[in-house]
Amino acid sequence: MKYKISFTLNNEKVEHEVESHKTLLRMLREDFDLTGAKEGCGQGECGACTVLLDGKPVNSCLVLAVDADGRDVLTIEGLSNGTELDKLQASFITHGALQCGYCTPGMIMAAKGLLNENPHPTEEEIKEAISGNLCRCTGYKKIIEAIMDVAEK
Ligand code: FES
Ligand code: FES
Repeated sequence: MKYKISFTLNNEKVEHEVESHKTLLRMLREDFDLTGAKEGCGQGECGACTVLLDGKPVNSCLVLAVDADGRDVLTIEGLSNGTELDKLQASFITHGALQCGYCTPGMIMAAKGLLNENPHPTEEEIKEAISGNLCRCTGYKKIIEAIMDVAEK
């Protein structure tokens, strides 16, 4: 069964018909071609699928698409302003805070959610905020430095 939903996606109002069982992650990737959010574990363990729902980070593999109705969804694709990267995106590049990049969109969206609530977090608060986001490549040090750099400005 399909439901009609309307929501804000990357700062634009959209209407969409979606199956009741479809996850937010699958809707974003399959119906809107927004493939920045990744499916890693598919069960809330890795954070690769993190997007912001009403400004807060969620594992989009665990959220039903119909639950986006009336809400605000921001994905990594909506973070930049045209060709101007968000400060976090730029800082990840400057600090070399990625290798394969699979975790990066989720990591940046988790950090964005933190900075929305707490623009100047401590290192411990940053570590806590990204504790649900796994990275198999970087060892986290450069990721934390990249977020710290934005948080200190
Ligand atoms: S794919 Fe959603 S938490 Fe891993
Ligand atoms: S950069 Fe490869 S998983 Fe994080």
